[in-house]
Amino acid sequence: MTSDNLADTPPGADGVQAVVLVGGKGTRLRPLTLSAPKPMLPTAGVPFLTHLLSRIREAGIVDVVLGTSFQAHVFAEYYGDGSKLGLNLTYVTETEPLGTGGAIRNVLGELTADTILVFNGDVLGGTDVREVLATHRRSGADVTMHLVSVSDPRAFGCVPTDETGRVTDFLEKTQDPPTDQINAGTYVFRRSVIEEIEAGRPVSVEREVFPKLLADGRHIQAHADHAYWRDMGTPEDFVRGSADLVRGIAPSPALGDRRGESLVHEGAGVGPGAVLIGGTVVGRGAEIGPRARLDGAVIFDGAVVEAGAVVERSIIGFGARLGPRALVRDTVIGDGADVGARCELLRGARVWPGVQLPDNGIRFSTDV
Ligand code: GDD
Ligand code: MG
Repeated sequence: MTSDNLADTPPGADGVQAVVLVGGKGTRLRPLTLSAPKPMLPTAGVPFLTHLLSRIREAGIVDVVLGTSFQAHVFAEYYGDGSKLGLNLTYVTETEPLGTGGAIRNVLGELTADTILVFNGDVLGGTDVREVLATHRRSGADVTMHLVSVSDPRAFGCVPTDETGRVTDFLEKTQDPPTDQINAGTYVFRRSVIEEIEAGRPVSVEREVFPKLLADGRHIQAHADHAYWRDMGTPEDFVRGSADLVRGIAPSPALGDRRGESLVHEGAGVGPGAVLIGGTVVGRGAEIGPRARLDGAVIFDGAVVEAGAVVERSIIGFGARLGPRALVRDTVIGDGADVGARCELLRGARVWPGVQLPDNGIRFSTDV
């Protein structure tokens, strides 16, 4: 850390290092994640990970280690040493995915601090990281875990606590959750706890490390709050999170004041009478035809939406094309795919990269 960085380090973050886990395969976001790792998908104009890294930097943390595996080279090519974001970024790559716990253990050689913040790399959040650190310091816990409440906890780690906020159990993806409090994917670890994780084999922090710590009577403290929070791992959540960023509902230090009903990037064209609402984002060099209607649409760079087409809550991959009066709703269109005129794609459809659908090729109605 340089003296310049120290000068603007807020209290509490001094001497803390961060680890971001970015080695997952992002299967639920296929086919977009066939060509790019999930944290690198464009979200309101920058790779998703930039929002998280900016939040880490805003909390005064400079030393960040990326735990990579799947498509590891993409991260280093884009972020380099991290200096553009004011970070000192290093990379540790697993040749075989080691799971969340194994990935944390695998970066130990890069960790010199006693207090280590660990982030799941796919969470869009508004929590003040310094508050989580403050809770950790106050309680003296082995691990402190950020918790949020969600309406359906079954897809997450369910985390009951006692009246003092001490974690009493950890139930990863249970069908019968005893509480709506879930693991929000941000932890503070004492370095010594990371040293205890067995090296060289896949380990799940959720299914092995946390249950074992609790069984051994160790102290895991909760930091619960009501800040903005969303796991971006599914198309529905990715679309919602992107729209929330565009509209300013989700905070991000990476975006500044560029917020509104839609966000159109440089080099993109929007034809007369086109309607862009619901937090729609149009990527660089994309073309939106006359009278097209985009509501909560995520249009990646270079994609083309022809005249009169309708895109609702859907992601259109790099260089893909939607023909005139096509309708896509709650759908993912892969990179370079070509959807013919008047095709209709609804409710969870996923078009694979490069696939060509002829005009009128798929319809949900009989009038053509
Ligand atoms: N380096 C590395 N190696 N990273 C990995 C690996 C691995 O083998 N496996 C997963 N990751 C990374 C992913 O890239 C992601 O950023 C993070 O770890 C979490 O993995 P997900 O696959 O997104 O997990 P999840 O969303 O099903 O569940 C996790 O997150 C929830 C909150 O968003 C769990 O931690 C849940 O308990 C939690 O509630
Ligand atoms: Mg996730």
